[in-house]
Amino acid sequence: MAKLNIYADRPLSTIAPEIYGHFSEHLGRCIYEGIYVGEDSDIPNVNGMRCDVVEALKQIRIPVLRWPGGCFADEYHWKDGIGPKEQRKKMINTHWGGVVEDNSFGTHEFFELCRQLGCKTYVNGNVGSGTVQEMAEWVEYMTFDGVSPMADLRRANGQDKPWKVDYFGIGNENWGCGGNMLPEYYANEYRRYRTYVRDFQEGHRIDRICGGANVADYEWTEKVLETCFRRTPPECHGKMDGLSLHYYVHPEGWEIKGSATEFDDDVFYKTLSKAWYMDELIRKHGTIMDKYDPEKRVGMIVDEWGAWYTVEPGTNPGFLYQQNTMRDALVAGITLNIFNNHSDRVKMANLAQMVNVLQAVLLTDGAKMIKTPTYHVFDLFQHHQNGTLVDTCLETEQVGTADWQVPQISQSVSRDENGTLHLTLANASNTEAATLEVNLFGTTARTVTGRMLHGEMHQMNTFDAPETVTLEALPAIAMGESGFTVTLPPCTVAHVQVQA
Ligand code: AHR
Repeated sequence: MAKLNIYADRPLSTIAPEIYGHFSEHLGRCIYEGIYVGEDSDIPNVNGMRCDVVEALKQIRIPVLRWPGGCFADEYHWKDGIGPKEQRKKMINTHWGGVVEDNSFGTHEFFELCRQLGCKTYVNGNVGSGTVQEMAEWVEYMTFDGVSPMADLRRANGQDKPWKVDYFGIGNENWGCGGNMLPEYYANEYRRYRTYVRDFQEGHRIDRICGGANVADYEWTEKVLETCFRRTPPECHGKMDGLSLHYYVHPEGWEIKGSATEFDDDVFYKTLSKAWYMDELIRKHGTIMDKYDPEKRVGMIVDEWGAWYTVEPGTNPGFLYQQNTMRDALVAGITLNIFNNHSDRVKMANLAQMVNVLQAVLLTDGAKMIKTPTYHVFDLFQHHQNGTLVDTCLETEQVGTADWQVPQISQSVSRDENGTLHLTLANASNTEAATLEVNLFGTTARTVTGRMLHGEMHQMNTFDAPETVTLEALPAIAMGESGFTVTLPPCTVAHVQVQA
């Protein structure tokens, strides 16, 4: 039997709600069709935003949304996306699928979407093909309340009051699609660009996010931090609030990737093992960050993560549309537990991407919308937002095939402001149930209840059968002297709530 000790009176760190953040790029059917259908659409909408999608996202309390990319961000010129829609430039989205981008979703529409969602805003600027002036003017357009050319232009376009930009990204993947820069070069560009991201609003600072590494490129982290912190007083912590990290799970590697829906046991465990790799990445990049920022004032911002498979047969390869199975639910459960357990350093994470692209939480087909297994995992985990991570000790077996082994159980535990404990658990075995003995220290359990997402590893929701995989009560909870015992069926992600 597996064993979990929970030390409820040993608080570790606050779990930033932004760990449950999302990402929406002008890519495939994410923005257009997936979120924005326009005011004249037959699909029910408010100011062009799909009501079904907004409602579903509100239910999982999405805390922050990153936009407009991705690789698209370093080709995006924001002035193309403001003003009367019929006059906005039409162009080809050369990076993603070669389709027409009519710029009908721009800055005003992004803030309207975030208003409807009630979430924070993360705008990603263009370093790769933009200029310092263009970036500075965008910030002025969005946030300045006084008299100025950009604030006046915003008013002329119908928005009197400035919006609030919570996070601003200084470029994206500048080691690749964002300009193919070397780390020292990018770091100097970061220093220059971030200087002109001005804070115009009293009492509100925009958090500046520096472009971080791809996967295990530790040299990037080291050199970028070394250059950014050089000749910067220690109290200015390199003048950055966050450093990003991108990591995608490709079961068969970057070139082949692998099918989203057809896989055997070996590929199932290989995928989960690659999800677990996030833990090592955070530790190793975190160790470098500790050297420059021992007080952990700079957040690690994992602003792109998720499983990336071969596109669904018959779909545009540039649209990155894929289905989502119980395997993805486990990828999400394992990864979110890792983020929670590193919440002393990880301050935001953004699943790629929100609708119709990669490991999406929602898929749409015309007027239809379905929730993926990954959506339900975000539903289960939402209780950790703003909670206090508490100390735990887990004993669990390894499961898998001869080549690919992972811990059977993954977990994280937080305490909310009412003292309720929230455990999120994943059983990675696709054949064996896991019985977990939970011992509580520093608290007692009055009631223990739970919900779970459970299914065979290939199971998914489709437009014909949208509720194949959905949340249900967690049945097998037995109270004991010092805690309780819970049994997780194979291939399950669960949330257990312990009221003292
Ligand atoms: O999420 C898809 C793409 O993956 C993003 O545009 C880019 O930043 C990353 O390479």
